[in-house]
Amino acid sequence: MDHSTISPSTDVRRGSLACVGLGMTLGSHLTPLARSHIAQSDVVFAGVSDGIVEAWLQRMHADVRSLQPYYREGKSRRDTYQEWVELMMAEVRAGKRVCGVFYGHPGIFAWSPHKAIEVARAEGYPAHMEPGISAEDCLYADLGIDPGRFGCQHFEASQLLLFERRIDPTGYLVLWQVGHVGDLSLARFGATGPAYRQLLVDLLAQDYPLDHALIIYRAATLPIQQPRIRRVALRDLPHAELTAEETVVLPPARAMKPNLAVRARLAELDALEKRSESA
Ligand SMILES: C[S@@+](CC[C@H](N)C(=O)[O-])C[C@H]1O[C@@H](n2cnc3c(N)ncnc32)[C@H](O)[C@@H]1O
Repeated sequence: MDHSTISPSTDVRRGSLACVGLGMTLGSHLTPLARSHIAQSDVVFAGVSDGIVEAWLQRMHADVRSLQPYYREGKSRRDTYQEWVELMMAEVRAGKRVCGVFYGHPGIFAWSPHKAIEVARAEGYPAHMEPGISAEDCLYADLGIDPGRFGCQHFEASQLLLFERRIDPTGYLVLWQVGHVGDLSLARFGATGPAYRQLLVDLLAQDYPLDHALIIYRAATLPIQQPRIRRVALRDLPHAELTAEETVVLPPARAMKPNLAVRARLAELDALEKRSESA
């Protein structure tokens, strides 16, 4: 279709896009706003975590199209995610109100929703994202972590391997997609395995002792489940059972070091203020 011929002002029924999050736990995390976007759309695309969640979504809307069949062993996930954008955009361009539904938060470690919104807006269609409860939100609650206490870094596990990043072991470190760590092809279905995870351990061992207890965390995706929380020593990570739906958290390994220079400057400022007040 030649989009340049479609003028937004003459379009009888303009297409639009809303990418919404379902949250992590079926049913209980869906916001009223996300629910209303789903109900009011013409077509729903579902990028959700499992078949049960998809079946539940189908009860909310008559035209739910699964994005799962576009994954294939040996096919790069990058290609799959590009296809998802094209699928959603084809319906937007056809004048439909499209809702992309993604598990968790649609903008956290999720390329297609961001890209589809960018493309839709560039073509003049209204598009926006509705946040959802992510694995990150759940882990703060289930593990009793406040990211404000010591600070918290988040990295995609493969990116941490491939680029020189600065890890701060005085704060929390959250590693996403550890199950796929080192998969440069982005085309594997299963986990990459112990040898790949050993590379990650070797890297982390530059900042953490090998007996440092890390947490392998899985948020509940069904209301009947409990979160899964396992503590393993860093050295044991390569052989620990790890699924694609788990996130690894390293608690701080060292105490924060006071910044004496900045503290001294702050004291000087305070003293200056006091002097000017009393003058
Ligand atoms: C493609 S990202 C999707 C994240 C999702 N958009 C969110 O908001 O949480 C997949 C990664 O999310 C994390 N993840 C997915 N499901 C999870 C769960 N049930 N519990 C903990 N982490 C999970 C894992 O790190 C996994 O590798």
